[in-house]
Amino acid sequence: MSEFTVEKVGRLEIWTIQGEARRNSINRALVAELDAMLTRVSGDAGTGAVILTGAGDKAFCAGADLKERAEMTEDQVRAFLLKLRLLLRAVENSDCVFIAAINGLALGGGAEIALCCDFRVAAADAEIGLPEVRLGIIPGGGGTQRLSRLIGPARAKDLILTGRRVRAEEALQIGLIHRLAPAGELRRVAIELAQSILQNAPIAVAAAKHAIDRGFGLELDQALALEHQQYELVLKSEDRLEGLRAFAEKRPPQFKGR
Ligand code: COA
Repeated sequence: MSEFTVEKVGRLEIWTIQGEARRNSINRALVAELDAMLTRVSGDAGTGAVILTGAGDKAFCAGADLKERAEMTEDQVRAFLLKLRLLLRAVENSDCVFIAAINGLALGGGAEIALCCDFRVAAADAEIGLPEVRLGIIPGGGGTQRLSRLIGPARAKDLILTGRRVRAEEALQIGLIHRLAPAGELRRVAIELAQSILQNAPIAVAAAKHAIDRGFGLELDQALALEHQQYELVLKSEDRLEGLRAFAEKRPPQFKGR
């Protein structure tokens, strides 16, 4: 059985985890399928944004599949985590923009999937947490590093060392999510966000994503040099000229991703 359903709306894809009975938790099959889907869209300019969400209204993703995990040897856990880490890094390195539409609980690996996305939009009753220490482990999919880069080490410790969950309102307040959707409006809010990005020049969007991600944490002169490299990509693009023509002709631009 497929772990995801895929909907395509123009240059947007919506990937929904189909594991409601196990609260959309992450098993080996899901990691393999997500990896294949990512490879497919990464080489395809026909997809510019992906919304990642979970089936049902209880959970976006309840983390690692703890039933599968209970059957794994130490080596198998190690191999699983390595695959997950590489996968989440590939999401960040993709030219596609990823939006996590958090439709309920995002726990452990579920929160880590959301953290590697470019945007996080949450339903009003969503909750996010990294409860690993309550299970005798620590976040193993980048959670300790991405959360502290996103909300600062003090707040990251508050969440990770206690294992407590934050509700969507607090998540918004501390910068853990970008948008809080009113009840029943998560899909609309996520799609509107995606469309507001997809109307822009594709090469420029990808270059801006990489400039921000790869420059963050670098010393300022190095980071500015990196921005300059990304600017070179847009400077050479047909879409830059189209942007200037459209402005002069007082019409919306028709970007081609070239
Ligand atoms: N792995 C595997 N199965 C999971 C799961 C997980 N991470 N989380 C939930 N499930 C399963 C439950 O075992 C249960 O299956 P069952 O019907 O066969 O017993 C089903 O999903 C529903 O879970 P339940 O606990 O009854 O639902 P709930 O809505 O009351 O609670 C959670 C949902 C997610 C709060 C709770 O299941 C939970 O705490 N799960 C573990 C989350 C976690 O610690 N994740 C981090 C892993 S590092």
